[in-house]
Amino acid sequence: MYPYVFSLHVLAATIWTGGHLVLALAVLPRALRTRSPQTLLQFEQAYEHVGMAALAIQVATGLWLALQLVPDWTAWVNPGDAMERAVTMKLALLLATALVAAHARARVIPNLSAQTLPLMAWHVGAVTLLGVAFVLTGVSFRYGGVGG
Ligand code: HEM
Repeated sequence: MYPYVFSLHVLAATIWTGGHLVLALAVLPRALRTRSPQTLLQFEQAYEHVGMAALAIQVATGLWLALQLVPDWTAWVNPGDAMERAVTMKLALLLATALVAAHARARVIPNLSAQTLPLMAWHVGAVTLLGVAFVLTGVSFRYGGVGG
């Protein structure tokens, strides 16, 4: 069972982090250059459903994998070793991602204009960096965890 869930987790990671890297490195610079919120909104509309599905798969499979590696979930919030710290780090990244994404969706996207594009760019940059940190923290499990 573990290899199947793990494969699903890695596949969904390519969609979540890969999609945000394409957004940050290809779509966003063009939107800023042309001062076109529409460019960003078009990508957002096309990516939103598949991106949110990938994140949901990520969270469900990630929690399952974490339960196999660190069965005592109290250690997830009170980590004692490097593997437990890696799980705590994943959860902290998830919380940070949810906060930045919720702020973008509730406050920034509804008023998106040429003037507010740079503010949106900060949000895209933050979620993308958090996505890369998710992947690096994921890889750290193979090497004993975080700070081990
Ligand atoms: C967008 C969110 C996430 C991304 C992009 C992501 C990415 C990754 C990647 C790429 C790996 C594979 C590393 C490797 O090849 O060795 C991984 C492993 C792992 N992830 Fe995530 N992850 C995310 C969310 C989560 C969450 C919420 C949890 C739950 C705490 C989690 C728990 C794990 C665990 C336990 C592993 C290790 C599996 C193993 O090495 O056997 N992940 N993650």
